[in-house]
Amino acid sequence: MERRKTDDKPTTVIIFGASGDLTERKLIPALFHLFQEERLPANTRIIGFSRRPYADQHFRDLLRESAAHTIGNSFDGAAWERFATHIHYVPGDALVHEDYARLRAFVRQGENGPANRLYYLATPPSLYAPTVERLGAVGMAREDDGWRRIIVEKPFGHDLASAQQLNRDLHAVFDEHQIYRIDHYLGKETAQNILFFRFASLIFEPVWDRRYVSSVQITVAESVGVGHRARYYDQAGVLRDMFQNHLLQLLALVAMEPPASFNADAVRNEKAKVLGAIRPVLPSDTVRAQYRGYCNTPDVAPDSQTATYAALKLYVDTWRWQGVPFFLRSGKALAEKSSEVSLEFQCPPRLLLDDASTCSLRSNVLTICIQPDEGIHLKFEMKEPGSSSELRSVDMDFHYRSILRGRRLPDAYERLLLDALNGDASLFTRADEIELAWRLIDPIQQAWEGPDAPPLEIYEAGSWGPEGANALIRRSGRVWRRGCCDHLE
Ligand code: BG6
Repeated sequence: MERRKTDDKPTTVIIFGASGDLTERKLIPALFHLFQEERLPANTRIIGFSRRPYADQHFRDLLRESAAHTIGNSFDGAAWERFATHIHYVPGDALVHEDYARLRAFVRQGENGPANRLYYLATPPSLYAPTVERLGAVGMAREDDGWRRIIVEKPFGHDLASAQQLNRDLHAVFDEHQIYRIDHYLGKETAQNILFFRFASLIFEPVWDRRYVSSVQITVAESVGVGHRARYYDQAGVLRDMFQNHLLQLLALVAMEPPASFNADAVRNEKAKVLGAIRPVLPSDTVRAQYRGYCNTPDVAPDSQTATYAALKLYVDTWRWQGVPFFLRSGKALAEKSSEVSLEFQCPPRLLLDDASTCSLRSNVLTICIQPDEGIHLKFEMKEPGSSSELRSVDMDFHYRSILRGRRLPDAYERLLLDALNGDASLFTRADEIELAWRLIDPIQQAWEGPDAPPLEIYEAGSWGPEGANALIRRSGRVWRRGCCDHLE
């Protein structure tokens, strides 16, 4: 396991929006695990900044309760007590300049000299720009006596124009090398592993292109509905919530060229090239749908047209992928939670069997299961034992759990917080990637809101989505795969 990187200076992690859900559910459990594994920089303090008038101890108690709930049986109370002494709270209003001056005084007093700082924007998005501006105004972005980095949560803008504006607001105060735009899918072990799988062995890369791959599918299915996030979600919808970031980032990892190194800019240059090469998507190659009952959710407009499911067919216009369709789908309230990427290979040119008429040519399929049963599966054909000409599809499976031997797979936020502390931005998205993704999504969203929008289909909660998505893929002579659970659908 990587240990912490050495730096003598104290480090302060300052979380804006500290009384929110993300801090409780993700950030604090991730920091606690890093602390337990001695991967946090020595002398790290965590300061929550938010409007609620908490005292340190009250804040710690609240966090303990939620961390214990999130971590479950393996929660170590004694370790938590040691960790909690590093947590502090400064009440303040994100819009009030004087509150930042108070925050700065508190932070400096604890640092007592040169120190590094990681800011985390876990506030509602409307507060990103004001927080950044005020941090700049009190000189908290300057790197005179240590590094200053800022992590920006998603959603990064609502469309291209607002994302460009947010990039301008950030760049007015922070330099690009200080900005870490988070997409937690990039922190998932299995998503990172796409690059290692492709570029750390030679076996698959030679067939990873249009000559051998006939289509690619990316599915991010969720079984939960929108729950208590309806106020945000009803404004966003599935394209902004899942496609602009997670699905397009997965696509970029699958489709990118080998980077010259794993350094942040080398990786991000290659991902940006892919995002820039995606052909504008035809409205007829999109499916929009909503699960039945969505409009009855509190905070959802009763006549809401927001899509909770989308399926797209798109093309990446590069030498490597010319003519290969990429099918992407994601939705809420589906039959199960499962995210995966599948590459379907071309069929062999001819079947060399005595009675080829009784067999059909079937393609090999490679599936990378992102979650929940993380692993890699390869489907290939073999002879049905005892028969002279029958074929049978079988799987070669790798499951992460087989090498973990009881250890847990680290949460994406652990990886990403650690990388930001270590100054490694390769798993964070750069300004140009964000904007390229919006350039693709904006026209689809506009078409969906315009007079010629494809119909909003209704699908049953707990199903695999609307019939239109099956029709979309059938038109290309294919079916959706469910590799993690059902390779032979
Ligand atoms: C978030 C979306 O970015 O990702 C949520 O805003 C979604 O709507 C979540 O539920 C899914 O993440 P995961 O890690 O549970 O697949």
